[in-house]
Amino acid sequence: HRFHLVLFDTIDSTNSYLMQQAASHAPHGTVAAALLQTKGRGRRGRSWQAAFGASLTFSLLWRFQMGASALSGLSLAVGLALVRALHQYGLRSAQLKWPNDILVQGRKLAGILIELNGDMDGPSAAVIGIGLNLNLPPAMRAQIDQPVTDMASHLPINIDPNALLGQLLHELAQVLDTFEREGFAALREEWQVHHAYHGEVVKLLFPDGREQFGHVQGIADDGVLLVQNEHGTQRFSSGEISLRGA
Ligand code: BTN
Repeated sequence: HRFHLVLFDTIDSTNSYLMQQAASHAPHGTVAAALLQTKGRGRRGRSWQAAFGASLTFSLLWRFQMGASALSGLSLAVGLALVRALHQYGLRSAQLKWPNDILVQGRKLAGILIELNGDMDGPSAAVIGIGLNLNLPPAMRAQIDQPVTDMASHLPINIDPNALLGQLLHELAQVLDTFEREGFAALREEWQVHHAYHGEVVKLLFPDGREQFGHVQGIADDGVLLVQNEHGTQRFSSGEISLRGA
């Protein structure tokens, strides 16, 4: 696959940049990467903490023929691409946490923020933003309100961010091609093999503060989480709940 690389020393957010570019005529496969983001954004309105060289931060613009309504499993597919690349890079313990965090030993290594530009039926552009912790300064770890980890804590080798970016893009292109042709259904089984909570009892956290326990049965073809509890099997889409180990 051909990528168009745009590299920044410092930028507000590579996702914000590519969302603006997507509205104009930036080509399919444009990659924006930055050494430092001053306003890195996470899911649910959170921020992505930054320090020079602490994490690999980039976004990929991918133009789809299908409309936004067909892209429900996209963020899960992207997570699988990261896990494939990390395993190849030697980090065999990288796992997925539904819908799309990457964990190592229960701690967050990477996050994904996907933003869509387009309508529900017509062609849409996805900006796929990825933040992957390379080497977090201790002061920064202390500021982050969840258990986090970085590549340097798990690999004996020095990480070459350029080589890692190349590997991630390679896996992303492959997974996105499969996703476009066959949908998330074609990736679902492999996804479940890497799910940190597959078959486990988890705590479900609702946005209104409610909590519930349930047993993770799996992921459906459209990417929703299937949880069994006393009410039977419930389906959750991303945004409705977040998961914690029980
Ligand atoms: C999350 O875990 O909540 C998602 C984090 C996504 C962070 C990446 S860093 C590159 C891209 N630009 C942003 O502003 N956010 C994403």
